[in-house]
Amino acid sequence: MKFSTVILAAGKGRRMNSALPKVLHTVGGRPMLAFVVGLAQELKSKNTVIVVPPDNQLIRDTITTTAGKSLHYAVQAVPRGTGDAVRSALGAVSVGANDTVLVLNGDMPLIEKATVTTLLRQHTQRKAAMSFLSVLKEDPSGFGRIRRDENFRVQGIVEEKDASPAEKKIIEVNVGVYAFHFSFLKAALKTLQNKNAQKEFYLTDLVAMALRKNLPLHVMATSDVGQTVGANSVAELAAVNQVYYARRREKLTQTGVVLMGNDIFVDADVKIAPGVRLESPCYVKGFSVIEADAVIETGCVIRASLIKKQAQLKAHCYIDASTVGAACHVGPFAHLRPHTHLQDGVKVGNFVEIKKSIIGQSSKINHLSYIGDAVLGKSVNVGAGTITCNYDGVNKNATVIGDGVFIGSDSQLVAPVTIGRGAYVGAGTTVTRNVPPDSLVISRVRQREIPGWAKRRQKKTPAAVKPRRS
Ligand code: UD1
Ligand code: CA
Repeated sequence: MKFSTVILAAGKGRRMNSALPKVLHTVGGRPMLAFVVGLAQELKSKNTVIVVPPDNQLIRDTITTTAGKSLHYAVQAVPRGTGDAVRSALGAVSVGANDTVLVLNGDMPLIEKATVTTLLRQHTQRKAAMSFLSVLKEDPSGFGRIRRDENFRVQGIVEEKDASPAEKKIIEVNVGVYAFHFSFLKAALKTLQNKNAQKEFYLTDLVAMALRKNLPLHVMATSDVGQTVGANSVAELAAVNQVYYARRREKLTQTGVVLMGNDIFVDADVKIAPGVRLESPCYVKGFSVIEADAVIETGCVIRASLIKKQAQLKAHCYIDASTVGAACHVGPFAHLRPHTHLQDGVKVGNFVEIKKSIIGQSSKINHLSYIGDAVLGKSVNVGAGTITCNYDGVNKNATVIGDGVFIGSDSQLVAPVTIGRGAYVGAGTTVTRNVPPDSLVISRVRQREIPGWAKRRQKKTPAAVKPRRS
């Protein structure tokens, strides 16, 4: 079926109390508008026109980066209502007079492909001038109500602000998804008026206009209320997110991802393989990928990261824009900062922070360390409390550690510095110069023992200040 899509995204979104355009607020970490644009693309819309406000650079930037495909934009000079918004898009719509134009509100991110496909099919079968989706809402407030006569025939849509107390009690509402016969749409928009409480040109008035002309009109009722949630305020946005994440959990479970508990939030652009186990609470954000049989324990946050197969993140790790190789063990309480790459089989233990570093295969950093701007080879053993001193107050400097190096506990590696393959750094060493391969480096003060010193000191010390022996 040939159809074009118009997406309405030029409204002010005053109820969001935010400078960010409403349609760029996120659901499941993805801007709402990107969901709607994605839907149009999934439906194979012939072309898609997004109606945007004059100040629209941020919208364009966000949508081209998330949707990837080129789209058409139409500018609505002043937000004078949804009817006026569609009118501003007509010039960019490229279909014939008898083709269909699908109109979608930009603030309805959860509408699904199957629902819209059915609406489009029924619209075509019935040769309707206009078709739209309705749903029954326990709390219909904020939505346009669908007026019907005693024979249940549709009479029109009345907006909340124009509704009488009796009309406000109607629970069948307009979802914000419409299909139009193009020539009807064009003609009707020409004569649309704004005689209403908001002095706006309502797209919803086209229902009554079609009826007045005795043109066929179709209302398709959907029973899935979850798909029809819209986000007009911060509270509604939170509610939409709750619905989104609950549905995401259901779908993940169906694909074989094991979710232990309910406080698991997986963003829209995340990919998780079957067999992965996630323990509540945890949060996986951005374009993260988790490969098969990885285990993510409770309290982890993963953002824009790749977790390879069979990796284990123990409780309370924060993994940001990093890669965790296959079968790595990380945490508990580890922090991988951006551009950290753990190759396969690496072990990172508790209270370890790593930033912008490559850690070679099977290396171990098991306790209480900071590694920044470093490249570690294979099978390096980093002792407890090791610090790369990567910052001299002005510049960040690199530390390079060769394969098989052993770094004793409580060492400081003052960058820029290179420790050659197979070298051994004695515990407590401050490394300030490059270390040749296979050598021992040790910089601690030589140990002395003074026999009897403690006893003698005790005798000299007055009783009152003697240390108590327990
Ligand atoms: C609209 C419908 C209402 C329906 C509800 C479903 C109208 C008049 N009302 O109300 O019947 O129940 O959606 O969610 O259509 N927009 C523009 N330009 C404008 C005004 C709005 O592009 O001048 C865009 C907005 O950015 C938004 C969409 O149109 O994406 C809907 O506008 P909004 O103000 O949210 O309409 P509602 O009050 O929700
Ligand atoms: Ca809305």
